[in-house]
Amino acid sequence: MELQGKTIIVTGASSGIGAAAALLFATNGANVVLGARRQRELDRLVGQITQSNGNAVCLAGDVSDEPYNRELVNLAERQFGGLDGAFNNAGTTGAMGPIPEMETRTWQDVLAVNLTSGFFAAKYQIPALRKSSGGSLVFTSSFVGHTIGFPGMGAYAAAKAGLIGMTQVLATEHGAEGIRVNALLPGGTMTPMAGEDVDFHEMVRGFHALKRMAEPSEIAQAALFLLSDRASFVTGSAMLADGGNSITKL
Ligand SMILES: NC(=O)c1ccc[n+]([C@@H]2O[C@H](COP(=O)([O-])OP(=O)(O)OC[C@H]3O[C@@H](n4cnc5c(N)ncnc54)[C@H](OP(=O)(O)O)[C@@H]3O)[C@@H](O)[C@H]2O)c1
Repeated sequence: MELQGKTIIVTGASSGIGAAAALLFATNGANVVLGARRQRELDRLVGQITQSNGNAVCLAGDVSDEPYNRELVNLAERQFGGLDGAFNNAGTTGAMGPIPEMETRTWQDVLAVNLTSGFFAAKYQIPALRKSSGGSLVFTSSFVGHTIGFPGMGAYAAAKAGLIGMTQVLATEHGAEGIRVNALLPGGTMTPMAGEDVDFHEMVRGFHALKRMAEPSEIAQAALFLLSDRASFVTGSAMLADGGNSITKL
């Protein structure tokens, strides 16, 4: 029960890593506030958690929309009396392609969902954490943009690398207030984002020292650690949970 009584926002909770994290956090005693655009998937997860005697609420919306980020925090405070942490995890690869051929709109959309969303999240979550006398924020970044230049993913890489820079600044700005801020860098993970192309999966497995992709629950465990008091001296980090992706050349 690593998160007993803590209230945690989880975005990207309708699928993949975020859904696995929401279940794991709730199992560990957290009140979870779930965000993503798809209402039906969020409702299903809330039902699953509450049937297991957990506490969960959801609000559907787009993380690139500033008021939505404020409303998630308001919901946490209204429903559970405050906020103790967030797993800001929603993300999208967007339309992929070489930079010279990339539509400016695509660049802007991918940055809005993956990076500007992090700014909006922090903007409203930090004041709420202050009221709780501290807490922990985790932003889902990626190996793409940190250790690997993946062709066709220029906007995604820029956004995910940007999250690491913002994480470092937030950690220094708010460390004295007992607020820890970390980025989590998953390796290739078997979620809808990874698609269903078995040849692509085979290629991605080869990038990793472990020669496999992660299960969403394995990345959720790393997020649980960063949100829990076990990570009490961990802040400003870009924590790899990448199966050795970043140190593999062969
Ligand atoms: N899978 C990988 O190999 C991998 C590797 C490194 C990093 N990551 C990162 O891990 C995070 C989770 O991805 P995943 O692998 O679990 O993929 P996923 O199963 O496709 O989940 C993505 C989640 O983000 C939500 N989302 C996307 N755009 C959104 C928006 N505009 N507003 C609100 N929610 C939005 C989706 O929900 P809705 O569609 O319902 O909005 C969904 O819940 C992402 O940040 C991704 O970049 C993934």
